[in-house]
Amino acid sequence: MTEFKKLFEPGKMGKIEVKNRIIFAPCGTHYSSLNGLVTDRLLAYYSERARGGAGLLVVEGCRWRLRASAGGWMMATSDKYIPGLKTLADAIHAAGAKAIIQMAAHRGSTDEEDPASPSGIPHPFSGWSSVLPSHPRAVPAADLDELIDEIGEGARRCMKAGFDGVMIHGANGYLACELLSRRFNKRTDAYGGDLRGRAKYILDTIKVIRKKTSPDFPIVTRLMGSDRVSKPGDSEGWGIEDTIELCKIIDEVGVTAIDITSGSQETPEWTSPPYFLPVGCNTDITGAIKKAGIKTPVWITGKIMDPSLAEQILEDGKADYICLGRGLMADPHWANKAKEGRVEDIRKCICDDRCLEDVMIDFVPISCTVNPMIGKESELAAKLPRLTKKKKVLVVGGGPGGMQAAIIAAKKGHNVTLFEKGSQLGGALLLAIAPPEKDDLKNLLNYFKVQLTKTGVKVELNKEATPDSVKKFAPDAVIVAVGSTPFIPDIPGVKGSNVLTYQEVLSEQKKPGKKVVVAGGGYVGCETSLFLAKRGVDVTLVFRSTEPALDVKYWMFRKYYQDKMKANNVKIMPQVKYGQITPKGLSLTDKEGKEVFLEADNIVLATGSKAEKALGEALKGKYLEFFEVGDCIEPRRIREAIEEAIWAGVSL
Ligand SMILES: Cc1cc2nc3c(=O)[nH]c(=O)nc-3n(C[C@H](O)[C@H](O)[C@H](O)COP(=O)(O)OP(=O)(O)OC[C@H]3O[C@@H](n4cnc5c(N)ncnc54)[C@H](O)[C@@H]3O)c2cc1C
Ligand SMILES: Cc1cc2nc3c(=O)[nH]c(=O)nc-3n(C[C@H](O)[C@H](O)[C@H](O)COP(=O)(O)O)c2cc1C
Ligand code: SF4
Repeated sequence: MTEFKKLFEPGKMGKIEVKNRIIFAPCGTHYSSLNGLVTDRLLAYYSERARGGAGLLVVEGCRWRLRASAGGWMMATSDKYIPGLKTLADAIHAAGAKAIIQMAAHRGSTDEEDPASPSGIPHPFSGWSSVLPSHPRAVPAADLDELIDEIGEGARRCMKAGFDGVMIHGANGYLACELLSRRFNKRTDAYGGDLRGRAKYILDTIKVIRKKTSPDFPIVTRLMGSDRVSKPGDSEGWGIEDTIELCKIIDEVGVTAIDITSGSQETPEWTSPPYFLPVGCNTDITGAIKKAGIKTPVWITGKIMDPSLAEQILEDGKADYICLGRGLMADPHWANKAKEGRVEDIRKCICDDRCLEDVMIDFVPISCTVNPMIGKESELAAKLPRLTKKKKVLVVGGGPGGMQAAIIAAKKGHNVTLFEKGSQLGGALLLAIAPPEKDDLKNLLNYFKVQLTKTGVKVELNKEATPDSVKKFAPDAVIVAVGSTPFIPDIPGVKGSNVLTYQEVLSEQKKPGKKVVVAGGGYVGCETSLFLAKRGVDVTLVFRSTEPALDVKYWMFRKYYQDKMKANNVKIMPQVKYGQITPKGLSLTDKEGKEVFLEADNIVLATGSKAEKALGEALKGKYLEFFEVGDCIEPRRIREAIEEAIWAGVSL
């Protein structure tokens, strides 16, 4: 059994004593009530994470600004919120963890309610907010004084509610960061000028919180360690050397801990690093801070999904505490599993940022691709133990939906068999993993495989289910999770032998020639193009819409695809009308209305998918307990397949 000695070493920061080095990073959930009150859902969500073994939980940002509305966040703008906040602090304590709460950020130039920046300079590129203000107001000093006072009041309420401390949000490129950055702060008043002036907002916030709480009330400052745009020696922006200088000042002032993230509104990919960024990507910053001899305990946040990596960071002295955000959203019991040496049971976050899409793009309560039961912990717990009779369950399909359904049904104690017609498990997840830089998704496949074995599911590969074979199997319950197949458009010549599908290409069932046209500009077309371009194929991506990856909601990923295709020399032709496919290539009308013939060895279709309905239609009505889950209902994404599978599995 691997031991994680450093990770489970108790720690002391000021008056906070923690049982280990694992901290839950603040992550907005939108689980509070519309008027900003703590809900039962929030209580269950945080209790579960506290029970999961983390030493300290940083509760998501609560709003303290008197002129702000709740908008999905908890409020701490008046004393009437204290009793609700108290139930939350108490619930976390009762479940065995320490609890601090974040003072939500004023979002600076992209704040939805008060777009304001130090000098009225808008961010050149920003997408955090749905409203992109082009002209933020230059925030007057008196307003900054008032904001600081309001944060102090908010902190006072949180202390009264029983929290062990508060976190100041000085990250993500929001107002505190814009004030620090020489690029956005051109002020000549007390809030501008040298580093101490630009840091006045943060430093005064510390002072005011102390005054309004108590001199030893724990305060953690979360800092943007680098905007990931600035290079060493730059006269603008915010880089690692700037952070070190600020940490030296904070060391003098004295706070409980410094939490380091990176990325600004220009580089949001760094703030919750997706699968295309490396693991532990902020160790360069925390390592440099520790090397500079900063005495305040340093927390590191950013894509630390593996206990071994966490242990290594601590062992190398690159941080004192490990903060996990999405890691504990994906698996609240991460810490307990690591402690018990059950690393293979950790359901690791795959860094697809679907949770961020919920809060940032759709403004809905968060869910999670690998853990769609997040925020529904109580509902699931209520359903899990209801085993009335051990049943013979047949699951058809070995994609995420089928694997998850089989696991949960087996966990309930049923006798479960899974038929998969292919030679390996994974379904379309195997295609999702294939494109470049999506290795993190492999963690999900590996997790499912281990859990199938551990729960005793009988997996039969190369076994295609038909209505007859299902009848012969004589199950008590059937769950159909047969996924989707590529949609073939009605283009003349589409049946030619030079025409392949994304499925054939990404599964490497068929190898295209050196010159290829990919038809279809959704994310599957982009990923197929990148997959081929990385293998040296000359790729032209053609599609009917105006820009590639329009089916991707979160603009950060859309930008990723566009940048990567450019970097990999994928030629792009938007707004085309397909003509016909011949053995030599594809004819089309380009966006200017010109007839064009693209010579190619192969045409690869990425023109959508269609649900695989036939088996479900044939079995429907024949079995008392019958469910369809995942893409065979309608092609969507992994989260939907897993969620539907869980509900089907637990209801047996
Ligand atoms: C290129 C690509 C990239 C993607 N990237 C992402 C991503 O990043 N994030 C995301 O959330 N989603 C992504 N998706 C979508 C995601 O993969 C699917 O939504 C998900 O796999 C659906 O799961 P499922 O279990 O319903 O079906 P599938 O994964 O399609 O699995 C169905 C399984 O059933 C088997 N089967 C079919 N018929 C039978 C039969 N009669 N008998 C036995 N077995 C049968 C199939 O062989 C297959 O293994 C991507 C899809 C593609 C194609
Ligand atoms: C859904 C979601 C909501 C978040 N909300 C906040 C927040 O309210 N305050 C904050 O400082 N950071 C927030 N973050 C950033 C996380 O605290 C964390 O810094 C980031 O996800 C990187 O850590 P991780 O790789 O361990 O997830 C949020 C992240 C996610 C995914
Ligand atoms: S939605 Fe994706 S990124 Fe967010 S926690 Fe879940 S797996 Fe991780």
